[in-house]
Amino acid sequence: MRVVICGAAGQLGTDLVEVFRAGGDEVFPFDLDLDITDYRLVMERIPSLSPDLVINTAADLDADRAELDPEPSLRVNLTGAQNLAMACLEAGCPLAFISSDYVFDGRKGAPYTELDEPNPQGVYGKAKLAAERFLACTLPRHYIFRTQWLFGRGGKRNFVKSILRNAREKGYLRVVTDEVGTPTYTGDLAEIIHRVCRSGQYGLYHATNQGVCSRYDFAREIVEIAGWKKVPIEPIRYADLNLPCPRPPYSPLENLNLRLRGFPLARHYREPLEEYVRWLLENDAL
Ligand SMILES: NC(=O)c1ccc[n+]([C@@H]2O[C@H](COP(=O)([O-])OP(=O)(O)OC[C@H]3O[C@@H](n4cnc5c(N)ncnc54)[C@H](OP(=O)(O)O)[C@@H]3O)[C@@H](O)[C@H]2O)c1
Repeated sequence: MRVVICGAAGQLGTDLVEVFRAGGDEVFPFDLDLDITDYRLVMERIPSLSPDLVINTAADLDADRAELDPEPSLRVNLTGAQNLAMACLEAGCPLAFISSDYVFDGRKGAPYTELDEPNPQGVYGKAKLAAERFLACTLPRHYIFRTQWLFGRGGKRNFVKSILRNAREKGYLRVVTDEVGTPTYTGDLAEIIHRVCRSGQYGLYHATNQGVCSRYDFAREIVEIAGWKKVPIEPIRYADLNLPCPRPPYSPLENLNLRLRGFPLARHYREPLEEYVRWLLENDAL
């Protein structure tokens, strides 16, 4: 397949490029060199590549800044996604879009399935949901993957790196107990996306590693794996941080559609987390 990947320099993009290339596909990776918010550019470049599949993993992830200044976030997360959907319509190819647990309010009290009604609480989640809906209306051949708490070797920042950096530099941590979800390794997610996109089984998928933890428990595991057990971690609540964007307090994503369609589920997050923390420390990649 000829596969265009937008956001290819990010965490997930880096692994998608690797996994699709390893599977024998011809990959065309783009990041800020193809600004997805530029309709004219997107309509010019994408169809001319005659892709068999486009994957949109480009995003503006700053959910707090989005509350204070929504337009930059909306431009990438909604308009950019719409532009790519239009380009795929023109090119006659399917589009895979990466969405988020932030489409839910996190008040269900149990893991969310693809059948649950979204109710986003902030601009970032609302933009993701609006992009999902636009895609579903515009392009029958689409894949939507909702995921959460990504960590991977590519890209610039993630929770695991921040925890290790703060532990090393400050010697103590303050981490919230009232945000619960599933850490997800981008290498494992890229394998799922590859498998589903090769199958032609279009639709909406919740796709994460397995296991559930709070941010606090996750931070504890990270410092334990690093061998820094003595670093004190103060449990706090989200309200203590005074952040503009409300987080879903409990938003694990049950991978129901993957299971129903017979796709293998990813492993428990602990296994890739151990490999990843060791890799970060050995390669001084914080
Ligand atoms: N990270 C998470 O925990 C998480 C959770 C749920 C869902 N997701 C979704 O999963 C996907 C992948 O996330 P990720 O963590 O891999 O993100 P990431 O590392 O930030 O990668 C996104 C990439 O898109 C690029 N980009 C930003 N604006 C662009 C534009 N206008 N045109 C082209 N490229 C642009 C970014 O460049 P710059 O870095 O230079 O801006 C970055 O290289 C995203 O759709 C995200 O919303 C992520």
